[in-house]
Amino acid sequence: MSDPLVAVIDLDLPGATISRHLYGHFAEHLGRCIYGGFFVGEDSAIPNEGGIRLDVVDALRAIRIPNLRWPGGCFADDYHWRDGIGPRESRPRMVNSHWGDVVEDNSFGTHEFMHLCEMLGADAYVSGNIGSGTVREMSEWVEYLTRDDDSPMAALRRDNGRNEPWRVPFWGLGNEAWGCGGNMNAEHFANLARQYGTYVRDHGDNKVYRIAAGANTDDYRWTETLMKALAHLGCAHDPRGFYQALSLHYYTINGEWADKGDATRFGLDDYYVTMKRAQRMREVVRGHANVMDSYDPLRRVGLVIDEWGTWWNVEHGTDPGFLYQQNTLRDALVASVHFDIFHDYADRLVMANIAQTVNVLQAMILTDPDTGALVLTPTYHVFRMNVGHHDAAALQVRLKGQERTRQVEGEEIPLLSVSASIKDDTALVSLSNLDAAEPQTLVLDLRGREVAEFSASVLTAGDLQEHNTPERPDAVAPEAHDGVRAHPDGLAVILPPHSYVTVSLRLA
Ligand code: AHR
Repeated sequence: MSDPLVAVIDLDLPGATISRHLYGHFAEHLGRCIYGGFFVGEDSAIPNEGGIRLDVVDALRAIRIPNLRWPGGCFADDYHWRDGIGPRESRPRMVNSHWGDVVEDNSFGTHEFMHLCEMLGADAYVSGNIGSGTVREMSEWVEYLTRDDDSPMAALRRDNGRNEPWRVPFWGLGNEAWGCGGNMNAEHFANLARQYGTYVRDHGDNKVYRIAAGANTDDYRWTETLMKALAHLGCAHDPRGFYQALSLHYYTINGEWADKGDATRFGLDDYYVTMKRAQRMREVVRGHANVMDSYDPLRRVGLVIDEWGTWWNVEHGTDPGFLYQQNTLRDALVASVHFDIFHDYADRLVMANIAQTVNVLQAMILTDPDTGALVLTPTYHVFRMNVGHHDAAALQVRLKGQERTRQVEGEEIPLLSVSASIKDDTALVSLSNLDAAEPQTLVLDLRGREVAEFSASVLTAGDLQEHNTPERPDAVAPEAHDGVRAHPDGLAVILPPHSYVTVSLRLA
């Protein structure tokens, strides 16, 4: 029998802090994310506060949602914020051209979003319109939200019923400017980001962290252009430059955009292709981080992955423009693999936002359009199991021994993904066994501190295709894991096939 694989973890050598904002979320005016997802209106039979579903808020508070990005996505560059304030009955309507060509009545606007953030205890990440909006419009929106005197926009906010300014720490300068956000080239957008960023002002003590719309997948040239646009003026070393971060979008898709495969009906080969594409996030982050390092070795400019996750074909019978998809154990493993990568790049990544929180793409929560029933997805459970990583210090994990791999599309991919962190006297180790058929045993060689107590949780199911529905809401849900034993070097952990396991260590 071959020796088991060993993961060496030095508990006394904490690394970069894993920002809780890496566990961020995204809510767009798209399909049933806002309407029917977060917002049901005050007259709904579903318990709500100001039209916002209380069960959705409770579920997201339980995973300590740190921030929420809104109103898009592509929608952001079509959105004119003044249409979404004032009495609801007199708000103008618009066409949501990107998503289903439906008429948007603007009943969920700035006040509703900020109320939602307050209920969630989450920081607001407002995505400003560069594609079709003016500099003045963006500048006035920030003033409206954050200014505390009798300025014209602060007065308008008060007229609309809100006295105190809100705190808005994160601001997006455009979205996918290379595509739906204006089809620009990088140089043109870099100039606009500098221009718009200039007028997104800090009012009072509200300090805005401006995030320029970044690259698609491996478009390293886009990142280089945005970094040069800062370096030219010495701003890469000035945290209060025109923008403090760049974004990046990378989605895990299996096939082509025209046929991305089904969320629940997939075979073994499809599963492994998904695991390969999910792990590609590491190469993509490394590529952008390398470019950024060459301009900003002190890592003062942040990288924000403000859209990531799986993107399958929509569920049969649903509007193709609404991007509604189910969520299986496979999606959960995509999430756990992503978080390991994010932890490894904690010194450059300042935020990440899964797309999208409710009823769209890789959602945390699905709601039934007829009954309103709420279901927590397998992905939700990964977020919950990882709460201990929020604001913890990353720990390096060194693997010793023969790692299990598999040939997928001509490449060997690892079948184990691991990361670890420490906060005060607690360490958390995350372990994903991507092998669909076989268990794996891993020895945690824990050095530098004594372990007083341990406990473990496991997320798995009989089939990879398993998912939660109103009839079977806990088909995929975490359970206590009894597969951890003391070992002369630390702990031996048995990982069931296709499983996600977390081991929590209380240190002496
Ligand atoms: O998340 C769905 C869409 O994907 C967003 O609106 C857009 O930014 C991206 O292409």
